[in-house]
Amino acid sequence: MCPINNGNEGLQSSKSSMLSREEIKAIESWISQMGEYQFLKTARQKMVTAKKTLKFKYKMIGYGYNRIVYDLNNGYILKIALCEVGLLGNANEAYIYNNCNEEVQKYLCPVKEFGSGWVIMKKMGTKVPFAITGYSKLIGLELKFLRYGIIPIDLRLDNVAFSEDNEMVVIDYGLFNMDLNSTVLRWLD
Ligand SMILES: Nc1ncnc2c1ncn2[C@@H]1O[C@H](COP(=O)(O)OP(=O)(O)O)[C@@H](O)[C@H]1O
Ligand SMILES: [Mg+2]
Repeated sequence: MCPINNGNEGLQSSKSSMLSREEIKAIESWISQMGEYQFLKTARQKMVTAKKTLKFKYKMIGYGYNRIVYDLNNGYILKIALCEVGLLGNANEAYIYNNCNEEVQKYLCPVKEFGSGWVIMKKMGTKVPFAITGYSKLIGLELKFLRYGIIPIDLRLDNVAFSEDNEMVVIDYGLFNMDLNSTVLRWLD
């Protein structure tokens, strides 16, 4: 489903300019145990278990079905997988951000670093600004991605945020799919 193996190995790193060696070890340890907790039903239960295992000093600023998200307090956030789909999502975001057309890259939250089970992205403001009518912007954005050969799966208001200049930016594109013939889609325009 996701183009995660197309050259991603080069991007993935076991080192980070923002995470300590101990933090990377803690993430790797969580990822190796994560499978044992798949019996947990809700995203919240998985998040609580991951949080207890990781014991990070950072504040958790969000979570979804697939990732737990920490604020690194330096303008960046850290997403850590809660399940297999989360692993794919992290790899997929790093791949798409680094390989997509620049016309759509500006609508994706920038990926700073990517490692085994984690990804670091720019921190965005998640409140919808008053002047923006969220849904119409969302549809416009959906069409832009389609034009450039990306199927924006799971694009919804929970998964977007806003840049300093109030531009809508996707913060969760873990399920987007870029393996399409973009010429065909642009031709439909
Ligand atoms: N770049 C970001 N800046 C600020 N908050 C974020 C960012 N990325 C994620 N979050 C917060 O964390 C939540 C979960 O992240 P998300 O990537 O949607 O995880 P999942 O893949 O589990 O749905 C988001 O709904 C949002 O509240
Ligand atoms: Mg999400």
